[in-house]
Amino acid sequence: MNGTARPWRSVLYIPGGRERALEKAKGLPVDAIIFDLEDAVAADEKPAARTVLAETLAAGGYGARAGLVRINGFDTAWGADDLDVIAAAGPEAILLPKVGSAAMVEDLARRLDARAETAETRIWAMMETPDGILNAGEIARAPRMGGFVMGTNDLAKDLGSRFRSDRLALQTALQTCLLAARAAGIVCVDGVYNAFRDEDGLRAECEQGRDLGMDGKTLIHPAQIAIANDVFRPSEEDVDLARRQIEAFDAALAKGEGVAVVDGKIVENLHVETARATLAKAEAIAALEAA
Ligand code: COA
Ligand code: MG
Repeated sequence: MNGTARPWRSVLYIPGGRERALEKAKGLPVDAIIFDLEDAVAADEKPAARTVLAETLAAGGYGARAGLVRINGFDTAWGADDLDVIAAAGPEAILLPKVGSAAMVEDLARRLDARAETAETRIWAMMETPDGILNAGEIARAPRMGGFVMGTNDLAKDLGSRFRSDRLALQTALQTCLLAARAAGIVCVDGVYNAFRDEDGLRAECEQGRDLGMDGKTLIHPAQIAIANDVFRPSEEDVDLARRQIEAFDAALAKGEGVAVVDGKIVENLHVETARATLAKAEAIAALEAA
């Protein structure tokens, strides 16, 4: 689990210039939003989308949801202008696409250092190129890093792999990024599920990501939110087991023992740490949902 208890179960992409979707998102039960200026926005619409998004962010209204702005890369015609216009709103995080090296993050960090409004802004990295995956360890430890977003569509394109429901071709990349994220103590959010009306397929992919250790899933459509929230939320059984493990372990300690047994399985200190993290996550979700 990542170092923060903040939930990242459902992370919804919204095309930065779509006013109706931007408005709608203020009432959607997502943990986080990615306001997108990159691939969800056509080239000739990018300047207008940037302006709409800057005004939308300045007006606020997104409550406790986390907000990431995905700008275009600095090797495109739009990246520098995106940052200029978006920086004024003091965004919580900038999501940089197609990150291939720590140097790309360091470059963005210097640009953020140069402005007072972005003193607190974190950097998130799209992990979606072969270079990025191979350099995941150094990228995760670069300045201001807050998390990884798996860009599985771009990655599949670069790998030349095909869609399979078990995502066999992506496992090395997913797990390499998880290792790097955990080593650095940052968040790791899974890629999107393209068939946004296929609920069973989405649920299966969410469960696979959760079981690997992902913090949540990026989403493209509101119809996907409930499933991601449900899969990545500690279940009632998870919470109940966590409580019983903590109780049993405390009772064992009181008797001078270092190990307890719950439901026929040993409980050691490390399991108790996981149990406490589960309870903290459940509490953080309850707090966010009440807000
Ligand atoms: N965020 C917020 N609201 C969204 C949304 C999103 N990503 N996608 C759709 N909606 C809203 C629509 O505005 C519509 O709202 P309304 O009822 O108030 O008009 C409602 O949800 C239903 O939308 P629907 O008609 O089913 O979808 P669509 O045909 O308008 O759009 C997509 C389908 C896939 C084009 C659209 O969901 C989308 O653009 N998703 C984001 C894609 C993206 O960001 N890609 C980049 C990362 S992979
Ligand atoms: Mg991409």
